[in-house]
Amino acid sequence: MAACPLSRVHVRPLMARCPHSPSSAGAGAGAASALAARSGTGRWGPGAVVGCATRARYASCRASRIARVSSILLIVASLPDSNAGRSTAMAPTSSEPRTARGPPAAQLSYCDPVARSSAARASSGVSTASQRILRSAATQPSASPQRIALTLGIEEKFDHVLQFTRMYHEKMKACVPLPRIEVKSGPVQENVQQGDRVNLLDFPAPLLHEKDGGRYLGTGHLVITKDPDSEWVNVGTYRIMAQERDTAAIYIGPGKHGSIHKEKYFEKHKPMPVNVVLGGDPLDWFAASCPVPAGVSEFDFAGGLRGAPTQVIRSDITGLPYPADAEIVLEGEIRPGELREEGPFGEWPGYYASPRSLEPFIRVHRVLHRHNPILSCANPARPPHTLTLLRAITRSAHVWEELEQAGVPEIRGVWSHEPGPRQFTVVSIKQRYPGHVKQAGLIASQCFSGGYQNRFTIVVDDDIDPTRIDDVVWALSTRCDPESGIDIQRRCWSSSLDPMIHPDSKVWLNSRAVIEACRPYEWRDKFPEVAETSPELRNRVLARYGRAFFGLH
Ligand SMILES: Cc1cc2nc3c(=O)[nH]c(=O)nc-3n(C[C@H](O)[C@H](O)[C@H](O)COP(=O)(O)O)c2cc1C
Repeated sequence: MAACPLSRVHVRPLMARCPHSPSSAGAGAGAASALAARSGTGRWGPGAVVGCATRARYASCRASRIARVSSILLIVASLPDSNAGRSTAMAPTSSEPRTARGPPAAQLSYCDPVARSSAARASSGVSTASQRILRSAATQPSASPQRIALTLGIEEKFDHVLQFTRMYHEKMKACVPLPRIEVKSGPVQENVQQGDRVNLLDFPAPLLHEKDGGRYLGTGHLVITKDPDSEWVNVGTYRIMAQERDTAAIYIGPGKHGSIHKEKYFEKHKPMPVNVVLGGDPLDWFAASCPVPAGVSEFDFAGGLRGAPTQVIRSDITGLPYPADAEIVLEGEIRPGELREEGPFGEWPGYYASPRSLEPFIRVHRVLHRHNPILSCANPARPPHTLTLLRAITRSAHVWEELEQAGVPEIRGVWSHEPGPRQFTVVSIKQRYPGHVKQAGLIASQCFSGGYQNRFTIVVDDDIDPTRIDDVVWALSTRCDPESGIDIQRRCWSSSLDPMIHPDSKVWLNSRAVIEACRPYEWRDKFPEVAETSPELRNRVLARYGRAFFGLH
């Protein structure tokens, strides 16, 4: 009897020691040490140096690659070394029929010994693989600013998430996109599947949520397209569902750059060439999921953040670039008029928001992959989850930047709260003139980085920490007059993932509120004084009576 294909798929965020770059203990060292201690393999001994040099290129060493990828993404699994070098002769190793449920178990192996011991536990009947995946997806540890800093190469210390957001904002502002450079070859070309030998079902696409309509190969990935009218190469993350051996459905939200490219090709009745990168330097993925303006390639943005250009190979099939150090690359096209069923998928708002529907799909003409490639994924679901912090930090920094670009002065902080990283944004300002608050709110709620599927934008004074929900609710409850302080905007940019849009609606438009929760500018000097203990008195009382005096433990 065939083993459950999922029984060999393992989802695990982990840090691994890089034997080749024993520098920079970095974030996650504790987690990795704990793993090392549990693995009992001696490969990661207690106190082992974890991670690779933060500014290093995505390396050739596998442990180093695992360490890099797992700083912000989940590792799913990989093909075994036995696949290595099969080059153009990727004949099936098993006579079992391959279904969309996944590849024959014999085709899969694991990226680390800890995973192997999990497999042993699973085969001994402790739990089914799908239970393990769901549990793992539900209990994955939260991402941390430190892990994100590791990916971004930010080495300065910080003690507040807003401080880190500001650091990323500064880095992004100073970032001059570095044009990618073309190279002739790279490790991703180690194995090739072409024509009839293409088989996406060789890869362990995970079923991330119980009611997903299929197995999603692409969640922590790059989708590369080109504007047909210019040299602009865009890179986005748009979910990809494995279908048949050479087709995969793709969902691109309205207004996303990949969608605009597609519309342009289809208007000319032409297929859109596309490359998909499954696994690789997480900095490339980070850039792909950021709201980089139209006309700028995320490859070049990533190069600027990295301080070294992204090295790419130009595909002779699609004419599009892909990173030379990628793990797996799919080269293909999306044809006009061709649609297949896709979804539903447990999405970032926390719902199976859009029903199964007809979406374009990619015809895959060639697959390239490294020996023993690492397939990474991201797992959105009911928040908070690993992605929410990352999304909160990037969205906040990009909205902050766009406010400054629009000339709005005295922005003291922007925070897109984790449970609704696009939908609940707080902007803290030092009020300087009448109308300043409204200006900040309207721009934050409509700018490129903040406009998509936004719902509430709240503007608060500079004594409010926008990341502290208690502070924000206090400002809302005491400095907002609902009658005059809430503006509703109608017919705004949303998507089929918005759970508040009726399923029968054919138009994805929403309304949104811009809320002024600041002392009214014109009588701010007469606004009641805040009743709070001064830090000096508080410290004296603390020293004398202890924390219990304040009801603290
Ligand atoms: C894990 C993850 C999954 C995503 N999935 C999708 C998706 O399926 N469709 C989509 O339109 N955007 C998706 N996004 C959001 C886009 O990647 C993001 O908006 C990006 O900035 C789009 O790039 P673009 O501005 O070049 O279109 C996802 C983001 C992340 C982080």
